[in-house]
Amino acid sequence: MKKIILFADTGIDDAIALIYALKNPEIDLLAVVSGYGNIDREKSLRNAEYLLELAGRDDIPVLAGATRPLNGEEPIFFPDIHGVEGLGPILPPIPEEQFARRTNISTLFQIIKDNPNEVTIVNVGRCTTLAIAWLLNPEVMKDVKETFIMGGAFLVPGNVTEVAEANFYGDAQAADYVCQTSPNLTVIPLNVTRKALITPALVNYIDSRATSPIEKMIKPILDFYYEAYQQLEPGIDGTPQHDLAAVMAALDIPDLYRYSNRVVRVQHEESFANGLSIADFRPGSMDCFGLDCDRIATEINENVFISNVLEILTLS
Ligand code: BDR
Ligand code: CA
Repeated sequence: MKKIILFADTGIDDAIALIYALKNPEIDLLAVVSGYGNIDREKSLRNAEYLLELAGRDDIPVLAGATRPLNGEEPIFFPDIHGVEGLGPILPPIPEEQFARRTNISTLFQIIKDNPNEVTIVNVGRCTTLAIAWLLNPEVMKDVKETFIMGGAFLVPGNVTEVAEANFYGDAQAADYVCQTSPNLTVIPLNVTRKALITPALVNYIDSRATSPIEKMIKPILDFYYEAYQQLEPGIDGTPQHDLAAVMAALDIPDLYRYSNRVVRVQHEESFANGLSIADFRPGSMDCFGLDCDRIATEINENVFISNVLEILTLS
């Protein structure tokens, strides 16, 4: 069993990653930290609460993450991709009193203390809250077993600028700090997540097997995501499951990824290259020049990805 704390900005692919985590018998989801990113922090929190309630898992705490990047600037949201509310066409009917359920970030430290060297953090949103956790409580955060981050684009085009991927671009300073600070770090970049596609045919197959309310969420939100991606990348044969790809990386699924050990840096001075993820792939830099190597997923086996997704998302 993997004890996972998911840091999300609960949009559509975050939701698919969350549903996968809830259905996967290998995962013990200890908490969801939900902050700004695809949408604002309030919508992100509400979406996480709604999905957990739909799944009958309101025992899993939802922690309030950051509301904006470290530099305090107003964040940019992506309603065209995730919908105004973050779950495509779905408007979660969460009563106001539901918000009383959320807990603050101090609960994160208690969970880590209660599970020393057993917690796997999977960060599929901006790195702001994770950076703040390290700044607030490094002596507890060092007891995290390992960290996986969906972010970056190495020597390939970005998705919010020509060079930058959305999670790293949204708070490049936090991304660089987390990449330099987190031990046992694995980065799952666009290089592989762009190929982690769920096609419309697979969505229909998954939907044909759906019985529970949470499973029946998959089709409407992925249909919306598909239409959005047809505007972004006309002809793309499905929707890229960036965040699900990061959760799967935490499970040591044989032959899913190939990795390269390199030091990851993120450009964050004010420039056109803000959010650019950098790693030294020159042959001589295999040992990271004695620095703490990070691990970067460089290749994905799409057949392994799809067979695992189908296995888990159609589990009854
Ligand atoms: C990342 O940005 C968000 O749009 C997605 O949820 C994912 O975490 C992809 O670049
Ligand atoms: Ca996300």
